[in-house]
Amino acid sequence: MAEMTLTVNGATRTVDVAPDTPLVYVLRNQFMLGGVRLGCGMSQCGACAVLVDGREVRSCVTLASRVAGSKIHTIEGLPALWAEAREGTAAGGLHPVQQAWIDEQVPQCGYCQSGMMIAAVDLLARVPSPSVAQIREAFTDAPPSPHLCRCGTYPAIIDAVQRAARAMAL
Ligand code: FES
Ligand code: FES
Repeated sequence: MAEMTLTVNGATRTVDVAPDTPLVYVLRNQFMLGGVRLGCGMSQCGACAVLVDGREVRSCVTLASRVAGSKIHTIEGLPALWAEAREGTAAGGLHPVQQAWIDEQVPQCGYCQSGMMIAAVDLLARVPSPSVAQIREAFTDAPPSPHLCRCGTYPAIIDAVQRAARAMAL
């Protein structure tokens, strides 16, 4: 076993896990953050995506020990992340990406959607007003793999990303 100190959604905590434990298991089992989904376990679907220092990372293939010292955010931490970015935003309010996902009624079964929203936050931090082509590229062509949705929510995701972009620009 190995002790490692992780900062997740603004809270720093030391956990004692096997040194080769993937981040997804630490987030789900030690931090009890069920919004992080385990899909393929091979960096091929995007369900397990989280933000590490603001960039999307596949937590199924990332050792928890590798991200000690970084700022990790899961879907549960997006409201606080937005409040921090926009001082004065009401605490407890959803991140505009989460609100847009609701407004556009994106999820069907929902399993992939945490990773989809994490990818959207990553994209909008880099490209504040993305075109449809840029959104498609971010969710399909960008490495390490496409974000897969077996329910076929891709058209609604494009609408939701654009809605979130408009809200974040206000
Ligand atoms: S579970 Fe990590 S990419 Fe599929
Ligand atoms: S909403 Fe069901 S897999 Fe994406």
